[in-house]
Amino acid sequence: MKIAIGADHAGYRLKEEIKSFLRGKGVEYQDFGVDSDQLDDDYPDIGKKVAEKVSEGRFERGILICGTGLGMCLVANKVPGIRATPCYGVFAARLSREHNDSNILILGARLTGVDLAKEIVEEWLKGKFQGGRHKRRLDKIKKIEEKYFKGGVDNTWVNGGS
Ligand code: RB5
Repeated sequence: MKIAIGADHAGYRLKEEIKSFLRGKGVEYQDFGVDSDQLDDDYPDIGKKVAEKVSEGRFERGILICGTGLGMCLVANKVPGIRATPCYGVFAARLSREHNDSNILILGARLTGVDLAKEIVEEWLKGKFQGGRHKRRLDKIKKIEEKYFKGGVDNTWVNGGS
């Protein structure tokens, strides 16, 4: 599994910790920024970038980190096909995979310590979607998305684009 990871300035330090955790687990990732904890970035820019990579199918899953996780969550869930779940505990991380088929994990660096964040990531990585009644519910969410979605996802690369 290859993960797209990104954070704003508030999430930068936790992102670096999570990257080294992923490396230790042998999980491949690509970092979409930011590269410092200076205040000159806006979470929608990074959130959009990572969510689009997942939506386009270039990455199976993503991890986004900001101060609370809330801003990143708002952004990521605007992108079609994204099921971004803010998780502040291990139980939510497990259910976010089993019930919600979470494809982007959101962390809040100002609310969640490094050790807990690593446990959350571990649980989320290994969690398996259970399908069944949960699939029926996700299909309903997809219908809502289709009703209101007016734009387009660029997945031309799938057929040979770049
Ligand atoms: C940045 O100060 C902060 O607003 C951002 O990291 C995030 O928590 C937004 O929801």
